Amino acid sequence: MNQAFLIILTTLCISGLIKLAVAEGGFCSAASSIIDSGSNTNQLYWKATNPTLSPSHLQDLPGFTRSVYKRDHALITPESHVFSPLPEWTLTSGAYLITPAMGSHFVMYLAKMQENSMSGLPPYDAERFIFVVQGAVTFSNISGINQKLMVDSYAYLPRNFHHSIRCDASATLVVFERRCSSLENLYTEQIVGSTDQQPLLETPGEVFQLRKLIPTSISYDFNIHIMDFEPGEYLNVKEVHYNQHGLLLLEGQGIYRLGDHWYPVQAGDVIWMAPFVPQWYAALGKTRTRYLLYKDVNRNPL
Ligand SMILES: *[C@@H]1O[C@H](CO)[C@@H](O)[C@H](O)[C@H]1NC(C)=O
Repeated sequence: MNQAFLIILTTLCISGLIKLAVAEGGFCSAASSIIDSGSNTNQLYWKATNPTLSPSHLQDLPGFTRSVYKRDHALITPESHVFSPLPEWTLTSGAYLITPAMGSHFVMYLAKMQENSMSGLPPYDAERFIFVVQGAVTFSNISGINQKLMVDSYAYLPRNFHHSIRCDASATLVVFERRCSSLENLYTEQIVGSTDQQPLLETPGEVFQLRKLIPTSISYDFNIHIMDFEPGEYLNVKEVHYNQHGLLLLEGQGIYRLGDHWYPVQAGDVIWMAPFVPQWYAALGKTRTRYLLYKDVNRNPL
């Protein structure tokens, strides 16, 4: 009965599309935006900030969410993101998705910047990594050099590094911050780049494509990986390791295994993986999966 009802509603929506394009809110306009969004398909990562509405709008039931929070992992899906003004930033709302309250040693948040917005500085001794998911920002450092960061661009800022991120129109950033675990006489440097400029790295025994956005040198205590899987590809190693992860799915969909749970995931989803949680991914669907992954490296865990 539900199925028949939905088919009728969908048909009504499609046949009434021109009229509905001006309607805001409600079931039919949600269905029509699936079709509207076709005009966005050339924009990189647009699904990360506009996750697919079919079938999730059908799941938009009272009390329903795919999000879970467990001792050693969490899945935080877009319908449960809660935004509030970001401390220190102007005209920017943020959703903290991973914080030390979960057991992580880093924070991961989304920052939605409006017209004429500006970043604040991270806490004392915290290093920062930003990645543009939507829109564009201007990054400036103390030398007064301005650099435009578009979608797919990123910056790494060492601890106590004076900088600002300004936005003229609108932008969404994913931000990672952690208190730097520095080694004596070793210093990190500002890095600005974009994913497409990074070389593909060897992944012995694995089929996915790997890029690293931060130098692998011992000075850096974390890295950000960009991992690509074609539909049907999956991790060979069922990983269990001491490192922790914060993950943002930028494109595609698949199944993430975390501990004894198997989660359907898609672009826009965020995952927290505590040390030693068994983890595995398989890409499904018709388009590639790309995800961005924080990983702590180069430090003795003792
Ligand atoms: C500021 O950015 C420019 C361009 O990326 C860079 O050459 C310069 O070294 C940076 N200044 C500092 C203090 O890192």
